[in-house]
Amino acid sequence: MVGSYKNYINGKWINSKSGKIFKSYNPANGSVLGTFQFSNSEDVDAAVDAANKAFKSWSETPPPKRAEILLKVAEILKKRKAELGKLVTQEMGKQLKEGLGDVQEAIDIFEYMHGEGRRLLGYTTTSELSKKFSMTIRRPIGAVGLITPWNFPIAIPAWKLSAALICGNTVVFKPATDTPLCAVKLIQVLEQAGIPKGVVNLVTGNGSEVGENIVKHPKLKAISFTGSVEVGRSIAENAGLKKVGLELGGKNPIIVMHDADLDLAVDGVLWGGFGTTGQRCTAASRVIVHRAVLHKFLNKLLFKTKQLTIGDGLKCDVGPLINAHQLHKVHRYVMIGIQEGAKLLCGGKIIEGKGNFYEPTIFTNVTKDMVIAREEIFGPVICVMPVSNFDEAIEVANSVDYGLSSAIYTNNVDLAFEAIEKLEAGLTYVNSSTIGSEVHLPFGGVKNTGNGSREAGIEGIHEFSETKTIYVDYSGKLQKAQIEDD
Ligand code: UN1
Repeated sequence: MVGSYKNYINGKWINSKSGKIFKSYNPANGSVLGTFQFSNSEDVDAAVDAANKAFKSWSETPPPKRAEILLKVAEILKKRKAELGKLVTQEMGKQLKEGLGDVQEAIDIFEYMHGEGRRLLGYTTTSELSKKFSMTIRRPIGAVGLITPWNFPIAIPAWKLSAALICGNTVVFKPATDTPLCAVKLIQVLEQAGIPKGVVNLVTGNGSEVGENIVKHPKLKAISFTGSVEVGRSIAENAGLKKVGLELGGKNPIIVMHDADLDLAVDGVLWGGFGTTGQRCTAASRVIVHRAVLHKFLNKLLFKTKQLTIGDGLKCDVGPLINAHQLHKVHRYVMIGIQEGAKLLCGGKIIEGKGNFYEPTIFTNVTKDMVIAREEIFGPVICVMPVSNFDEAIEVANSVDYGLSSAIYTNNVDLAFEAIEKLEAGLTYVNSSTIGSEVHLPFGGVKNTGNGSREAGIEGIHEFSETKTIYVDYSGKLQKAQIEDD
């Protein structure tokens, strides 16, 4: 018997008004992990109402007090890391080490945001007038909507929840339909940590019913979304005047220069390209290699790729894709790559049998106009793109519409710094892969990867708060800025 899970609204676990449910499956074997509420607009209304009612008292709670609850969340997560990490693997598919990493990232961000409870810094500055004091403070926005993807089913909700809550906002949270159990477990942890009723509300269901109603809801003040460019665009168009934070796709390059440590680069490419079975916004999907080392690099890469074990993430290196739809989408892209004339070095096949498994796939001779070099595949597919020099490498790297992460392997410090300056991306790694951002630094991208917002670190605080500017005039007379005295 699998569990049947409910929405969490106003501090209570309740059924959807729709009377409908949906299931979550283990992508490695198709087993059912639980049933969940297939919610509708009435459920969203109830959640928004609860969040708005809770806003006054939560926003007036001193931030260090709010922070105590976040620290408790981190402590509970630490105790339950093994159990929840395993659940991440079972519901999302990534290998167990990464499932545990997902939970660790949540622990890290709750601890970090706990610290922000004693900062939430504004600044003081000068005034053009005497006896006048100027400063800024950070204020909460209100009830906010969080919509999260399935690829980091604990970590990404944690980034958004921890930042939203420490800033004094209340939350309506819709997790991805593929990973509702991780979301329920995370909310149970918040409940156990003592989050007051109505401050966090969970509504499970699909994008067109629940997501859209959240995005358009007149009583929500902000939306934070991580997912596809297509949905991101529609959110930007439908959210009206809400503050919108968008973390969208990537087509992240790793440049391997002729002087690179090739073994290090190969390890980075494997980790970036096949980690999380390539289902990261930050996945290394393009590897731009200097021709002088291409042959050697490809041999090393192929050798190590063949050693990867594919299967249930609890036991293997490369887990399944999240669902059959993604599996076939990845395969369609591979077929397109072959038609476009890219050279398939390995992989390229769906693994028959139970589970959504795809062979780790490497293409070479990929050129920048090919579809497989431009569109986000979100699967275990690496496109190797040979180049003749550094300038061409940068040009190829920047030739896509995305700009999330990027990396360069080189031992030339001048080239490293030039790449830092020239790569069009929100993140650049030197001699390290495209994945592995840390929670105290901002995360986000340029170009079609988003709308300029950043998550995590101090910029995560900016996403979920508004600046208030304050002038205190203690001169006892009417002083006028910009106006000359008579
Ligand atoms: C994502 O791929 O959606 O840097 C987020 C990383 C992780 C976060 C990735 N810490 O790859």
